[in-house]
Amino acid sequence: MKTIAIVSPAGGAGRSMVTASLASLLAARGHPVLALECDPRNVLGYHFGLRDAARAGLSGCLADGSPTAWAQAGLRSDDGVLFVPWGEQDSDDDDIQAGKLLRAGPHWLRGLIAQVAMPAHGAVLIDTPPWPSPHAGQAIAAADLVLVLLPPQPEVCVGLRRLTDALARRGHAACYVATRLQPARRLHADIVTLLRATLGDAMLACPVHEDSGIPEAFARSENFCRSAPHSQAAHDLQGLASWVSHWIGAPPQEPER
Ligand SMILES: Nc1ncnc2c1ncn2[C@@H]1O[C@H](COP(=O)(O)OP(=O)(O)O)[C@@H](O)[C@H]1O
Ligand SMILES: [Mg+2]
Repeated sequence: MKTIAIVSPAGGAGRSMVTASLASLLAARGHPVLALECDPRNVLGYHFGLRDAARAGLSGCLADGSPTAWAQAGLRSDDGVLFVPWGEQDSDDDDIQAGKLLRAGPHWLRGLIAQVAMPAHGAVLIDTPPWPSPHAGQAIAAADLVLVLLPPQPEVCVGLRRLTDALARRGHAACYVATRLQPARRLHADIVTLLRATLGDAMLACPVHEDSGIPEAFARSENFCRSAPHSQAAHDLQGLASWVSHWIGAPPQEPER
């Protein structure tokens, strides 16, 4: 089983969309998948077809100190992905308290994931709010691989060094993907060139292009890759899923009968 944190130094980078898409695409490739939402925005469930915010989730387990209650908050999507939302918090005070608890126990999430029994080709994907934050820190501390999403914005380039240094200091394996890419925009093309020069082979050659069909599918509670399978962005996400699947290790072949 491999744990992958989906992280970004910028908001709106596509973390929740990529987490949900990867989860579905990896499940379709035969990987058992658990998607965890370590983000108080509590929106990942909508990507899996929920119509209302999930009440129960990881946050309840954090608040009451129970190491096992989170398993009961698990939900299964139509395409076979087990996911655990963050859960609804009643007030801003709860949110502040959660932040304090996450800072006090930076390996809390890693401890929860250690309880999960999955085969070697299983994948745990963790959705996060923008880094730096205690929630993203928990996901990084739990991860075998940090998948960093980089929308081509100047402020992302400015803050990137801090993130790469923090990951290197703690010895985390990381790879980087450009998201929301519009190659016709000169600024985007220049930033991607700069990122490739800075990050070298750690920058994956499968960027996710900007596609207006992604928010439209989300608004309709549809799975984007299924609703627009021939679009550039669906092709990009398939490429990313293929890379991740290969990194995890192929599922065992069914014996021929
Ligand atoms: N490649 C993309 N092209 C167009 N819109 C996108 C793309 N990726 C994400 N979006 C949209 O941008 C918004 C933010 O995406 P989201 O996945 O919630 O980002 P994050 O979790 O990083 O904040 C959503 O409305 C989503 O549908
Ligand atoms: Mg998100």
